[in-house]
Amino acid sequence: MKKILVIGSNGQLGTELFQVLSTKFGSKNVIASDISAYSQNNGLFEQLDACDAQGLAAIVQRHKIQHVYHLAAILSAKGEQNPVQSWDLNMKTLLNVLELGRKGMVERIFWPSSIAVFGPDTPKEQTDQHAVTNPNTVYGISKLAGEKWCQYYFDKFGVDVRSVRYPGLVGHKAMPGGGTTDYAIEIFHKAVLNQSYDCFLGPESSMPMMYMDDAIRATLLLMEAPSNELKIRTSYNLSGLSFTPAALAAEIQIHYPNFQVNYKPDFRQAIADSWPSTIDDQMARMDWHWQQSFDLPKMTLEMLKGLQR
Ligand code: SER
Repeated sequence: MKKILVIGSNGQLGTELFQVLSTKFGSKNVIASDISAYSQNNGLFEQLDACDAQGLAAIVQRHKIQHVYHLAAILSAKGEQNPVQSWDLNMKTLLNVLELGRKGMVERIFWPSSIAVFGPDTPKEQTDQHAVTNPNTVYGISKLAGEKWCQYYFDKFGVDVRSVRYPGLVGHKAMPGGGTTDYAIEIFHKAVLNQSYDCFLGPESSMPMMYMDDAIRATLLLMEAPSNELKIRTSYNLSGLSFTPAALAAEIQIHYPNFQVNYKPDFRQAIADSWPSTIDDQMARMDWHWQQSFDLPKMTLEMLKGLQR
């Protein structure tokens, strides 16, 4: 059994990915780590600031880690509040993890990129793997630079680093923090409480999204694919579904007919407007046989059921 380290295990994705990895590979083989001292999960846990290269290396050696999932980052909306700190954290932690690969201390690395690598110059519909990027957020700039670093470490040092450009991730087990797509989770929490929701985006902001189960399945598929079948070493486009706040609200209203949304766009509207609406992910479909399974009705049902529980 391989030993796995999840960095950022208290986050929205980390919480759920850790649970799935623990079930699949055994709780003794998966170590959670987060900058926060408290673990959201029951299992092996190490407190770690991933900016601390020595602390990270010590954990990797102590647990004989082979695969690292490096999920810690400051997301798009929060990044705009504190650009330099966001850049430092997002880049330093990635380089620390890539260095583990270069030194032969770990065999395989997963690091997420994002639809945020795209910008206002990018075609909005069916955005191609190689479409123009030109991001205009700190988060997007850090993800684009990160993609280039992944390619560099693969080309120069043979580091087996793998990545996808996640769309907005929607799940009910943990809250997101600081993203532009967070509205698509917050809205469900209000609906099940029979409260109205003040949406920070306008009704027609269409963005690429994905239900968490699909995101985790994609991540594991990519991590299990034979290395020689992966043609993209920056980051793969990945598509689930696309919807607007208005379409999501209408779907929720099928289950909660009295549910209401008030639209109060703030600075996040400009970020949403700079991102694509739909993504072409044919490279992921070809290279590692990706196929999404959740559409809007199925996702909505799962979210509502999960939160009601
Ligand atoms: N969900 C992220 C954000 O909104 C995008 O990767 O920042």
